[in-house]
Amino acid sequence: MCPAVSDDNLASLLRERLSPDVLGVLGAITRAAGERRERVYLVGGTVRDLLLGHETLDLDLAVEGNAEALAQTVADEIGSSVVAHSRFGTATLQAGTLSVDLAMARTERYPRPGALPEVQPGAIEEDLSRRDFTINAIAIDVSEPTFGAVIDPLAGRADLEARLIRVLHDGSFRDDPTRILRALRYQARFDFALEEHTERLLKRHAEDLRGISGDRVRHELERTWEEREPERVLKAAQEAGVLAAIHPGLAWDSTASRRFARARRHGAASPAVYLALFAYKLDEAAVDGLVKRLALSRAAARAIRDAHGLRGVVASIAAPETRPSEVVQALDGYSPDAVAACRAATESPIIDERLGRYLKEWRDVRPQLDGKSLAGLGVDEGPDVGALLERLRNARLDGQAVTRDDEVALVRRWLRSSGNAG
Ligand code: CTP
Repeated sequence: MCPAVSDDNLASLLRERLSPDVLGVLGAITRAAGERRERVYLVGGTVRDLLLGHETLDLDLAVEGNAEALAQTVADEIGSSVVAHSRFGTATLQAGTLSVDLAMARTERYPRPGALPEVQPGAIEEDLSRRDFTINAIAIDVSEPTFGAVIDPLAGRADLEARLIRVLHDGSFRDDPTRILRALRYQARFDFALEEHTERLLKRHAEDLRGISGDRVRHELERTWEEREPERVLKAAQEAGVLAAIHPGLAWDSTASRRFARARRHGAASPAVYLALFAYKLDEAAVDGLVKRLALSRAAARAIRDAHGLRGVVASIAAPETRPSEVVQALDGYSPDAVAACRAATESPIIDERLGRYLKEWRDVRPQLDGKSLAGLGVDEGPDVGALLERLRNARLDGQAVTRDDEVALVRRWLRSSGNAG
């Protein structure tokens, strides 16, 4: 890690690590910036990941100047598109699959704790000093002729090497409590430690998350689900008293962690499944509270509520004599994400096996005959058709019909026994 940590010029690291395509786009940006007499720097996660030797997919750039106008000039030149987000003077340049975020280098002032900051143009050093952690506050100048020069006024490289997450000042978590969740994410992702004083501040300000809007907390959780092992973030959040500040009743333990890992092993680790497992132990009132607190979408709320409802249902499919059709009847109508969450949560091998088969196979089983073919066999149009198709599906699920001919024979038999023509 940190292959070139003591170099003051990382030009060769950039040329080695960035692909020719990325260097091409970067070159177009720095040329245009030079003509506009603006300076451009790689910043944030891009620099951190480059120094860690991790893959860098997107580029974060700070511009001492007008980022939006620069992005537009480059987009016109290379024939790509720009999305501008004017509130913070930022723009995203999409060049093929590469996404480049250009932001105006700026100072920030928080009008009150937890509010979004007011921004003003600033120099790169000021831009670095408004950031969350030292490891995210390193810049690499990519303007000519200083391409590759490192700007590290807050000793971020030393912290990268020491594997420490350190805030820049005591007010950092108070200004922006979402940084609490960011710190825990980085800690888990990189296997870094919280620097001691930072850890104390984080615990002291955990409660401040209560004042943060549902949208912002949900956004941080959504980013947590993207981590390789989100349970590590939640474990640390529990230990630091952060979960209860998100919603009272939320708690984390090793059982919950095992469920997350199991969901991954099942290939079912979607955000909705993680969310349903996150809320798995809550009672109904707490589930309602969490849905409101996080301003969850209908689909997300449904996954949580269905998983909750299913907890009472899955025991009914555990008996050895339960037929596949009975499993399907019990589970159809619940969201598949909720079923996957219950599968990850169960300790019972038989329930695990049945939920797994339901998800992979049984829920998609359909009879080969359709309404038209039933009419051809003499079934009157109307509710009988639906009922017979359902019976055929059950027969297929339970192995009583394998081929189309089996289904035809069954329908004929049913019609005979109900006194219908056939
Ligand atoms: N940042 C900050 N405070 C925040 C959010 C972001 O200071 N609450 C700064 C950090 O310097 C961060 C940069 O903005 O590096 C970009 O933010 P983001 O894209 O969220 O993070 P990345 O560093 O790119 O990290 P990740 O790999 O998690 O996307």
